[in-house]
Amino acid sequence: MDGTFKDNDYSKVVDADRAHVWHHLIQHKGFETGEPKMIIEGKGIHVWDQHGKKHTDAVSGGVWTVNVGYGRESIADAVRDQLVKMNFFGGTTGSIPGALFAEKLITKMPGMSRVYYANSGSEANEKGFKIVRQIAHKRYGGNKHKILYRDRDYHGSTLATMSAGGQDERNAQYGPFAPGFIRVPHCMEYRKHEQDGAPEENYGVWAADQIEEVILREGADTIGALCLEPVTAGGGVITPPEGYWERVQEICKKYDILLHIDEVVCGVGRTGVWFGYQNYGIKPDIVTMAKGVASGYAAISCCVTTEEVFDMFKDDSSDPMNYFRDISTFGGCTAGPAAALENMRIIEDENLMGNTLTMGERMMNNLHALAEKHAVIGDVRGKGLFIGAELVSDRASKDAMDEKMVGAVVADCMAQGVIIGATNRSIPGRNNTLCFSPALIATADDIDHITDAVDQALGRVFGS
Ligand SMILES: Cc1ncc(COP(=O)(O)O)c(C=O)c1O
Repeated sequence: MDGTFKDNDYSKVVDADRAHVWHHLIQHKGFETGEPKMIIEGKGIHVWDQHGKKHTDAVSGGVWTVNVGYGRESIADAVRDQLVKMNFFGGTTGSIPGALFAEKLITKMPGMSRVYYANSGSEANEKGFKIVRQIAHKRYGGNKHKILYRDRDYHGSTLATMSAGGQDERNAQYGPFAPGFIRVPHCMEYRKHEQDGAPEENYGVWAADQIEEVILREGADTIGALCLEPVTAGGGVITPPEGYWERVQEICKKYDILLHIDEVVCGVGRTGVWFGYQNYGIKPDIVTMAKGVASGYAAISCCVTTEEVFDMFKDDSSDPMNYFRDISTFGGCTAGPAAALENMRIIEDENLMGNTLTMGERMMNNLHALAEKHAVIGDVRGKGLFIGAELVSDRASKDAMDEKMVGAVVADCMAQGVIIGATNRSIPGRNNTLCFSPALIATADDIDHITDAVDQALGRVFGS
């Protein structure tokens, strides 16, 4: 594949992009003199840019998405076959892949029952919020409408999901936000010294108790749901401390608060089990997912609920308002569930979750070994193939490394042909975590290649 690449001239495409495309999350001044990066082709865990340069992609399409890797012809075939048979009809009706994927998905989610289709993570989360709001109006006179979200978590780019956004730098300049979203403290053990009153022992239970304090302050009768990521992604790859989730579940039960788990990143195998929450024995009421559902082969997201939640929208058919009055036009696209079905088959048949656990452990071990050598690595944390390495300027004080230096590590890896990520415009002064989420097909050689590149980059940038 490298050969045909080098013969192609993409300069016209690059010019068109530079003239007319507004890229996501990027300052464009640099494109007046330099080129935007274009990704032209992908196979397995590798992608090729406009110059034919091969990269190992350690972040699954930049944003934790392409779980089964690039160039999967069987997914393309499944989508093609479905599109020529029936591409779209609005979601008041059913479709073959929509029905079959929902059935298959629910077999992976004991306790859950209903699948609502949409097409982005933000949108799936908004569906969850609207479900909570409608329940509040229907059952609690509008009172139980507040939605709790956590410091450092992210739930999407729309204004309602940003209202539930725990990343102040991401939210900056986009307010005012929607009312009725209330923040609870984060549960990041590595930075517990920055939280007033955090104990040395049993931090996880303490961190969950902080949620209860917010509930008591606001009044439990005003709170409808708690929305959390199982492992926080863009906020710094934060794994929950021991005892946290058990206590969170107890608190939700005690105050009759629905638990909405945002699986947009962790969902569909990323942590080595189907869903991140399944690592912690959680029983959610609402689960949202997007990125890995079809590995980016088609746009699809799902908002999944228990039958109990679903029942509240059909238990009174004499009330003309008693159903979920929501629509997502492209939630009716059949390409999404067709791709998702084949994506799930691949994960099962190729035992990709087993591979995720083995390769995740290897990557963790490699990064811990790098921490022995490079004092700049303050913490390594993660679950499965979802790992972060937090860089600090001083291990004792845990002062965050300057984000420009973190960016230099990412750039050095890119120059070596390895694409890694870093927390970006997320938490003020805390954009200092390197992020790794290679495709679940990664081999031992791929993992070693990625961490070798990080080793060299850290050596060059910090002289360690
Ligand atoms: C945890 C989490 N939730 C929701 C979203 C929003 O998903 P989307 O960009 O598909 O709207 C993201 C995106 O990165 C995410 O990381």
